[in-house]
Amino acid sequence: MKGLNLLLVDDEPLMRLSMLDALEDVGCNVQAVSTGTEGIEALRAKAFDLVITDLRLPGADGLAVLKTAKEKDPLTEVLVITAHGSVETAVGAMKLGAFDYVTKPFQMDELLLIVERVGAVIALRRENQDLKRQLEDKFCFNGILGANSHMRAVLEKIKLVAETDSTVLIVGESGTGKELVANALHQNSFRRGAPLIKVSCAALPESLLEAELFGHEKGAFTGALRQRRGRFEMANRGTLFLDEIGEISPVVQVKLLRVLQERTFERVGSNETIEADVRLVCATQKDLRKEVAQGRFREDLFYRLNVVPIVVPPLRQRQEDIMVIAQHVLETCSEKLNKPLRGFSQPARELLLRYSYPGNVRELENMVERAVALSRDQATVQPADLCGFQSCPYLGGTPQESCGFCSEGLTGGPKKRDTALTSLAAAREGFEKDYILSVLERVEGSRTTASKVLGLSRKALWEKCKRYGIPSAHSDGEEET
Ligand SMILES: Nc1ncnc2c1ncn2[C@@H]1O[C@H](COP(=O)(O)OP(=O)(O)OP(=O)(O)O)[C@@H](O)[C@H]1O
Ligand SMILES: [Mg+2]
Repeated sequence: MKGLNLLLVDDEPLMRLSMLDALEDVGCNVQAVSTGTEGIEALRAKAFDLVITDLRLPGADGLAVLKTAKEKDPLTEVLVITAHGSVETAVGAMKLGAFDYVTKPFQMDELLLIVERVGAVIALRRENQDLKRQLEDKFCFNGILGANSHMRAVLEKIKLVAETDSTVLIVGESGTGKELVANALHQNSFRRGAPLIKVSCAALPESLLEAELFGHEKGAFTGALRQRRGRFEMANRGTLFLDEIGEISPVVQVKLLRVLQERTFERVGSNETIEADVRLVCATQKDLRKEVAQGRFREDLFYRLNVVPIVVPPLRQRQEDIMVIAQHVLETCSEKLNKPLRGFSQPARELLLRYSYPGNVRELENMVERAVALSRDQATVQPADLCGFQSCPYLGGTPQESCGFCSEGLTGGPKKRDTALTSLAAAREGFEKDYILSVLERVEGSRTTASKVLGLSRKALWEKCKRYGIPSAHSDGEEET
């Protein structure tokens, strides 16, 4: 309760003074006043963590103080003091949002115990807010969540490269977030005021793709009834995102190469040369080097596109992101659907962590969205909510359909892990421990390197390892300072 900002409202001078003394002794910052009206004035002037008010006061009474406190900030806690025999009023105060009440006469220790409880609630709330902010700051960039070290490196790279005009090639499996990366690159570049134009190269046949990219003149081909600007022109001064670049035909590859070399192009059926003031970002699920080796993709174009490669790892290789993303989707969906869900039950978490997500983040997102919509539980998502099959054999249904999700989860796939649904502080510690372990693993146990990756001093890392019982097998044997 140290440092708690507290407002004390009581008209009995002796009572007020003894409470003031006791509260200041335990480290609270107390402002004491003797009337309800003064109390309300103080509340309007300043923010308090806790208000302790007598219910019967001259002028405005304790309930008025309580109402003002809650109106101004619902997070301000209020403790009411009531005379013996007027417990009903105290219950009324609880309904208005008071944290608790004490009945006169009371021992000072009784009061201090309640203040201590309020202090603990406030500390937890602050911790929660800090964690949330930390998650937002550290693990989220333009809507891309990533707690895994590789994802954080990807986010750092996006920040760095966004400011340049270099061509970027984003490589990753389906649903890993390539489009989000392209958005972030545009939003953080000096081109953000101009359009970000997206073209899915796989969606169009060769002849149409060429016209789509470069535009065409009226009559350039059958069906070209009027002149049309292409995507390169639409993206002028902005960014052009060519998705599924591995799918473009040799003819379009040549044309694209020319734009990249000369920064000019012509509309189909025109001789007029147009400047291309465009930053190119491409994405592919394919291994373009292999495509080059097999003669399906031009090597010169590959090098022009692969100026800055950004590889987005599949979700199964970034376990730390699973619950961060799942929790984020859960919160968004429960708010949208007005459901009271707060998290995942322990078995549901275990299932989520063990699954391999062939559809990556998109699959996880859909799974959680569906779970929130289907969930009948008041507090947490259950394994059955996550399973797409109504009669999943692994969850006790008739074994007619196979369910990859539950079979992997229940039979314990390769990523078996113990997780428990516990308090926020414990969850954070669990995450911190797992994360430190995973970093240590990746840097082959070198605590010096790990401390750099984690942004901690070696001493701080050493202390954390000690606290979490991370064995010295993970240490590089250097003496800690
Ligand atoms: N790191 C992430 N944090 C939060 N949401 C993410 C993340 N990665 C992907 N998503 C979400 O997952 C979904 C799929 O992402 P996106 O469309 O960017 O993937 P993609 O790699 O372009 O997939 P595809 O290859 O199928 O086009 C989107 O709804 C996106 O918002
Ligand atoms: Mg995509």
